[in-house]
Amino acid sequence: MASETISNPNLDSTLREDRIFPPPAEFAAKAHVGSLTAYEELYRRSIDDPEAFWAEAAQELEWFAPWTRVLEWNQPWAKWFVGGKINLCHNCVDRHVQNGKRDKTAILWEGEPGEVRRLSFAELHVEVQKFANVLKGLGIQKGDRVAVYMGMTPELAIAILACARIGAVHSVIFGGFAAHAIVDRVNDSQCVAVLTQDTSYRRGNEVKLKATVDEALPQCPSVKNVVVYQRSGSAVTMQEGRDYWWHELMATAAAECPAEPLDSEDPLYILYTSGTTGKPKGLVHTTGGYAVGTYLTSKLVFDLKDDDVYWCSADIGWVTGHSYVVYGILQNGVTTVMYEGAPNHPGPDRFWKIIDDHKVTVFYTAPTAIRAFIKWGNEHVAKHSLDSLRLLGTVGEPINPEAWMWYREVIGKGRCPIVDTWWQTETGAIMISPLPGAIAAKPGSATRPLPGILPEVVTRTGEPVPAGQGGLLVVRKPWPSMARTIWGDPERYEKTYWSDIPGSYFTGDGARIDQDGYFWLMGRVDDVINVSGHRLGTMEIESALVAHARVAEAAVVGRPDEMKGQAISAFVTLESGNEPSPELKDELRAWVAKEIGALARPDDIRFTDQLPKTRSGKIMRRLLRDLATHGEIKGDTTTLEDFSVIAKLREQDE
Ligand code: WTA
Repeated sequence: MASETISNPNLDSTLREDRIFPPPAEFAAKAHVGSLTAYEELYRRSIDDPEAFWAEAAQELEWFAPWTRVLEWNQPWAKWFVGGKINLCHNCVDRHVQNGKRDKTAILWEGEPGEVRRLSFAELHVEVQKFANVLKGLGIQKGDRVAVYMGMTPELAIAILACARIGAVHSVIFGGFAAHAIVDRVNDSQCVAVLTQDTSYRRGNEVKLKATVDEALPQCPSVKNVVVYQRSGSAVTMQEGRDYWWHELMATAAAECPAEPLDSEDPLYILYTSGTTGKPKGLVHTTGGYAVGTYLTSKLVFDLKDDDVYWCSADIGWVTGHSYVVYGILQNGVTTVMYEGAPNHPGPDRFWKIIDDHKVTVFYTAPTAIRAFIKWGNEHVAKHSLDSLRLLGTVGEPINPEAWMWYREVIGKGRCPIVDTWWQTETGAIMISPLPGAIAAKPGSATRPLPGILPEVVTRTGEPVPAGQGGLLVVRKPWPSMARTIWGDPERYEKTYWSDIPGSYFTGDGARIDQDGYFWLMGRVDDVINVSGHRLGTMEIESALVAHARVAEAAVVGRPDEMKGQAISAFVTLESGNEPSPELKDELRAWVAKEIGALARPDDIRFTDQLPKTRSGKIMRRLLRDLATHGEIKGDTTTLEDFSVIAKLREQDE
């Protein structure tokens, strides 16, 4: 966490950014929060009396029983809306069925091959109740953990909503993860069932989800059942007594299943994310606070209105999909678009065609996708009008001002505000982002904190740093959608997030605040790298590499990459008797893809006799980062044990 790491060569241009884009008057006139004064007033009120602010937001949802205390805070342990009874599925579905939205489209789905399905709130209501009964029929009860390893189908949303309906805790595992990653996650939280599908479509290929589950399950003794949704009809192996077809169970499931009144602090889901050790952390989100946080941020940041057609292109395998494909948006009673496949299938204009075909009004995607669109060329965008769009958003990594400007001009036609939203799996909901009708945007800045959120940029000892200087991003007050713990490891939760900076939640990100109070995110300051908006721990990749029989030791660092934000550079020492070769590089890259998933495949691998280490034996990642980035060492090498190691590594480059 050394301060010299708080700079990102990718983002140097943001240091010179002085363009500013105020909200268009027409947009502001209709917005939930329509002026800077209104934002500042709301913000001040929310910080002066956070409990009153959050209670007011919570009242917009339907509770089965009221809370007795808004917050019980015993750092780092939070309980929100204590004593309140609520059901998130009820608030996403039933409430709208009861309030005149029966026939309104809740989920508008498009498959990669081109099929379109629309589920009204009434239809979604039927499906979630039936599937909740399917879960109950398998003996799944409140508190049981259920793994979900599916592609982007409406059934994935139905699956998690059905879990939420009965109080089962879902643990969605991104469909790009490999069998080994499923084993770790399923075993860590002792899931009793896995929900999956035969295959899903991606860039014209089939992703064999069920086969990967089959590969994992012999090592997952807690799993009793598998439910398989038939998406493609491809042949899969079904294990008698363990595996059931979704449609067969649904055919006989009872139609009614009342939503369980859950305690506000009952766990809603576990989502694994990378940290600084080899083992992914299962962040736990609970019901009431998460409901309020995702509801309010969806409403304010995306300025949601009844007639919006909202599309977030994230996969439900990530937190963005949980909060802003499903829970936040459906709680607002707004149509959410789900797309199954790749952005460039069958052609590089697929997203723009979807926007035109379905008259999407709000579009939320990742900077890495925007950089790919830029590379593919404006001619693909020009084939479509995009005139239904009124608001654009980004998430997942810092956006470089060039990409931001392109997004604004080429996609938004200079008309649509952009919300650059900063948040994390741990925060559950957006924390720093412009309110699009109130806050002028600066390309590359997530701008200002949302109401109720008190972030700060501090030194390692927690002192605020002066405007313009880089420091560590922390959050000073608890907020309702914060993760409550790490599944099975409360000490790790406390140590990871609440021990580094006294009295604060530490985000792991570097940032600076400019003279206008705008936040500029500068990337991770820990051993987490952000590859195409996907969070990966360098230690996870190192563990995978050393699990290979020929590898003795490995160090993995991120280096800036124009397209992906960061690329993965691995330094590997081999067990004696093995010779470096291009074939072995390929083998190791394939190995990591097999162990973790294709997203973790190293971009480059260098073989070395030794890794640079301090005298106390710690790998000097800073030097490796320099080397991976610039091909040379810029930093201080005085603590390096054996300088010749670096000399040799550099030689290899030349
Ligand atoms: C990064 C994704 C800059 C950041 C919601 C954070 C961002 C990590 C932004 C969380 C943004 C996310 N600007 N950086 N707008 N949004 N990040 O848990 O480093 O997958 O800590 O959650 O992504 O990634 P996660």
